[in-house]
Formats: sequence, structure tokens, C-alpha cells
Amino acid sequence: MAKKSYTMHVAMILGSSAALLVFIFLLVAHHREIPDRVRLDRGALLGSSSVAERIKPVGEIAFAAAETGPAPAKNTAAAATPVRDGQQVYQAACIACHDAGIAGAPKVGDRSQWAKRIAKGLDALYASAVNGVNGSAGVMPAKGGNAALSSAEVKAAVDYMVARSK
Ligand code: HEC
Repeated sequence: MAKKSYTMHVAMILGSSAALLVFIFLLVAHHREIPDRVRLDRGALLGSSSVAERIKPVGEIAFAAAETGPAPAKNTAAAATPVRDGQQVYQAACIACHDAGIAGAPKVGDRSQWAKRIAKGLDALYASAVNGVNGSAGVMPAKGGNAALSSAEVKAAVDYMVARSK
């Protein structure tokens, strides 16, 4: 009796070890291919593009070196609120009157028309451009009629006009 139960125990232990071995073998065999399959699937999804290509930023801002000097190359704050330079503001909001001298506006580039205005000083010109003038020559609307311009942009445009008129 004792002998029989001993062999039975051995048989049970051997049997379950064999089953466990088979199970472990199947498990390992199954999972061994997973990295390959993942690589295949990923290759099919992403095509042949490189990582650098996929994670590159959508847009980049390039500042001319002369404008910003050795400042940080990527300025995200400036990207949020683009500041136009004086020439761009002039062309967008001031050129209509000041290029040809429409409605009594002093013509940009005409030194004789600008000399007495420039003599008043830049601050006076800034104030006129930002707030408007209802003067003897005609009516200059505040910010050239473009309220969306910032004072800094209007001043930059004045600088640009003055630089071209003296
Ligand atoms: C609708 C026409 C018009 C537009 C647009 C306009 N101006 Fe004028 N501007 C005038 C007139 C007219 C005068 C002359 C006013 C006067 O002295 O009687 C003038 C005068 C000025 C002067 C001289 C002010 C002074 O005190 O002598 C400056 C500086 C100026 N404009 C800047 C600008 C700038 C900068 C813009 C664009 C942001 C602009 N203007 C857009 C009509 C215009």
C-alpha cells in the first residue's frame, strides 16, 4: 500500500512537471515572435519615414539674423503675436495716403513737407499718428484708421516714414 502510493505520487509529480514544461515551452515559443510582429506592424503603419521626420515641428520661425542679433533662435512668444516691422505696417495701413500725399497727407520721401513736422520731434509725430490729427493740411485718422494696430507698430511705421523723408 505504502509502495503503491509512493509510485502514484512520483507519477503525479512527473506528470504535472511534464505538463508544466509543455505549457512553458508553448508560452515562450508564442511570445518569442512578438517583437518581430510588432516591428512588422509598426513598419506597415509608419512607412519608411525616420523618427526625426515624424517628430519634427509643424512650423518653424526664421528671424533674419540682422533683426534679432544673436537672440534665441526660436522665440515662441513672438510666434504667438507677430509684430510687423515699420515697413510692413506702412505698406498695410499708411501707404494709401502717405505714398501719393492723398487728402493733404505729407508725402513720404518729400523732405520739404516733412522738415517742419520732423522738427517737432519724434514724440509729437508718434502722438499724432497714434491719436490722429485734425490739422490744417487734412485729417489723419488715429492709427491711420486701423485700430487693430498696436502703438508700437504705429511708431515703427512713423520711424520708417521719417527715415525715408529726411
Ligand atoms: C486716410 C489718410 C491717412 C492714412 C491712412 C494715414 N495718414 Fe498719416 N496723415 C494724414 C494726413 C491728412 C496728415 C496731415 C495732418 C495735418 O497735419 O493736418 C497726416 C500726418 C501724419 C503724420 C505727421 C503728424 C504731425 O504731427 O505732423 C504722421 C507721423 C503720420 N501721418 C503717420 C501715419 C502713419 C504711421 C500711418 C499708418 C499707420 C498713417 N499716417 C496713415 C492722412 C493719413
